[in-house]
Amino acid sequence: MSTDIDAGARALEAGKLVAFPTETVYGLGADAENPAAVAAIYAAKGRPQDHPVIVHVAPGASLDYWCADIPAEARQLADAFWPGPLTMILKRAPNIPDAVSGGQDTVGIRCPSHPVAIRLLQAFKGGQGGVAAPSANKFGHVSPTTAQHVRDEFGDAVGENARIAAVLDGGQSEVGIESTIVDLSRLATHGPVLLRPGHISAEAIAAVIDRMPARPDAAAPRASGTLESHYAPHTPVAMQDTATLNSTLARLHAAGRKVALIHYSALPATHAEVALPPTPEGFAHALYAALRAMDGVGADVILVEAPPQDGAWLGVNDRLRRAAYRSTGIVHGLINNTTAL
Ligand code: TXA
Ligand code: MG
Repeated sequence: MSTDIDAGARALEAGKLVAFPTETVYGLGADAENPAAVAAIYAAKGRPQDHPVIVHVAPGASLDYWCADIPAEARQLADAFWPGPLTMILKRAPNIPDAVSGGQDTVGIRCPSHPVAIRLLQAFKGGQGGVAAPSANKFGHVSPTTAQHVRDEFGDAVGENARIAAVLDGGQSEVGIESTIVDLSRLATHGPVLLRPGHISAEAIAAVIDRMPARPDAAAPRASGTLESHYAPHTPVAMQDTATLNSTLARLHAAGRKVALIHYSALPATHAEVALPPTPEGFAHALYAALRAMDGVGADVILVEAPPQDGAWLGVNDRLRRAAYRSTGIVHGLINNTTAL
């Protein structure tokens, strides 16, 4: 593996793309200071040019190299949570290329904790570089949590002379949903803003900086994870509370429909199903693999048993609502509209 990691670092230095594991999801990486390499990520993903990407740095990297006007709170959060699943949005240093920021005057930065990601970042440019990396999936699709998921997404585009030089295999991502994103770029005027909920909760952030991050208002910077439809499988997805789910199952089965089920309670047998652990951590860890598996069984619909709505489940509920949005058109609250199914 260490030879693979070194080869990956050399490929990144040569301007190529390398997919690599992080503790959240797999990333599709490029040298953040090479605009052509960053452009190749957008092309591979089919992602609009104005969506910024996160810069990943090695432990101990200098925030000052990448960011400007850094508030004390950013250093406190880096000390508390890095390496780990927290991305901070800060003002961008003048020397950082436009391409990583989608033209915005800020940069998203994080130091991941997966050992393979850390070794790659340490080998790349002697640990002084930054690797721009979105999740390694086609734009709008479910994020990958294994190397096989990445190969499933990009198929023929992976290989020494292909678009993606290598996929480093680091097993199944532990956290399973993307990093928490907190915007500190307008701290003085807007306070800290939680752009994307994740494993590190708003409460945990508040415990370090003594200020509770707010949810974004309409003027907040764009984050593709805040699009209403995202993380979506190809099969329609609907999320329902347990009682509604039971009656929907009965109705759809009576109509001869093939239902794939992602659940944590005991429910009637169906075409295909995945039972997930009934904890926020266990559910998040296995969620994307379950969505991908249930997308591959030829079902008419994927029904998801809605998790509890309390704060610990915020990240999971956020991803599920967006995964289901394209199918139901309902963004907030429980999704009970399956009349279209
Ligand atoms: O866990 C993660 O964050 C994973 C792994 C690979 O690190 N990466 C990830 O990247 O989820 P991506 O590109 O799929 O999602 C990053 C989100 C996007 O919604 C993007 O718009 C937002 O971060 N973002 C990045 N830089 C930003 C900036 N300067 N201002 C506002 N949002 C930003
Ligand atoms: Mg993504």
